[in-house]
Amino acid sequence: MDPLTESEEGWVPIVSADIPPGTLVEAVFESEELVVWRSADGTPCIMEARCPHQWSHLGGEGVVEGEELVCLTHCWRFSLNGEGWKEGMTGRRDRKGDIEVWPCKEESDWIWTQRRGND
Ligand code: FES
Repeated sequence: MDPLTESEEGWVPIVSADIPPGTLVEAVFESEELVVWRSADGTPCIMEARCPHQWSHLGGEGVVEGEELVCLTHCWRFSLNGEGWKEGMTGRRDRKGDIEVWPCKEESDWIWTQRRGND
């Protein structure tokens, strides 16, 4: 395959799209630590790698549960749009801090994000 290059709109390929549903990989883009994950239904998502609670690295402490990425350190969970939640033993869900979600698209077997300032 020919090398992929940045688009005029600032989209840049950062990891192969070969990420099975329910898994994640780490990535670094413009010195930012990121995680790229695919939800159970196959939706790709790019998030900052540090949990907003106590800064655990989601590359090691994160696990995909359905359509959310869960930080195993204290079980905050983040939806595909970055909303933070905590679910108690009874199933009650409380809003917690949100996490930054980066622009994401899947194209030509790669996951792409967009440089800041181009969105
Ligand atoms: S550090 Fe992630 S939930 Fe506490």
